[in-house]
Amino acid sequence: MANLTVTIGNESFDNPIWVASGTFGYGTEAPELVDVNQLGAIVTKSITRQPREGNPPPRIVESPSGMINSIGLANIGVEKYIKELLPIYEGLSTKIIMNIAGIDIQEYVEIMEMVESVSSVIAGYEINISCPNVKKGGMEFGVDCEMTAKLTEKLRGITERLIIMKLSPNVSDIVSIGLSAEKAGADAVSAINTVVGMSINAKTEMSDIYTTYGGLSGPAIKPIGLAAVHKLYKKLGIPIIGIGGIVTGEDAAEYMLAGATAVQVGTANFRHPGITENIIDSLNTLLNDSNRSFSSELIGKVRTHS
Ligand code: SIN
Repeated sequence: MANLTVTIGNESFDNPIWVASGTFGYGTEAPELVDVNQLGAIVTKSITRQPREGNPPPRIVESPSGMINSIGLANIGVEKYIKELLPIYEGLSTKIIMNIAGIDIQEYVEIMEMVESVSSVIAGYEINISCPNVKKGGMEFGVDCEMTAKLTEKLRGITERLIIMKLSPNVSDIVSIGLSAEKAGADAVSAINTVVGMSINAKTEMSDIYTTYGGLSGPAIKPIGLAAVHKLYKKLGIPIIGIGGIVTGEDAAEYMLAGATAVQVGTANFRHPGITENIIDSLNTLLNDSNRSFSSELIGKVRTHS
């Protein structure tokens, strides 16, 4: 067995296979379907200051090699998260990364301050600056270097836990956004969130999603994710967490070769909630077959033609 341990900031993770925010609930829903303690980390669903119902249905549709969602950040709100979920996380041995979303800097700050004011085992925060499905906040931050920097800096002043800024692919230059987050004190970036997409039913002549556009995820976006991670790896000094279409151990290895220190499995969880166990096993086999002792040996090692 290879050593799969990875380190990000001052946190060490048993393995680089995490589950992505929004695709695994709060991490506590289906203990009979998957042993969550074998995961490198659980990134929990985006939490806002107040509970949210999210967007009206239809808000999910399958698409070729993927799916489109426009959930609109439906969640229980931070008060309930603190009261009901943080105590459950105390009993898990896997690391918990709390994903936070807000409509303005004040909302992100308030949520983080509330969590920091209570004792908990969470390892860090993933900051959602890339949700394409809400009118205010979300992606507004992630498409603007100055706003990304301002938010990151403000949050850095509140916590010493990990701060991971989740980047949007719906920008002309993801590297400049990543660099802004890095300069402002982020410990890592995760890339990519979903790609804006649309689905139309030719028979009914209707758009399939209530909000018309949504976020495309799944294998359809893996090449976009790989390119984003590779571009970020070439310019940033902080770790990158790869997301987008990971279904197999080989997909995870490809992201690591492109420069990812860890990866998040997202859409594949909907088809098979225990798929991460297979991914960890097959990553191990792949490393053994290539005589590698550490998964970290893969990071950034892709060979290119030029
Ligand atoms: C959503 O809740 O609409 C999806 C979350 C995201 O894309 O960040």
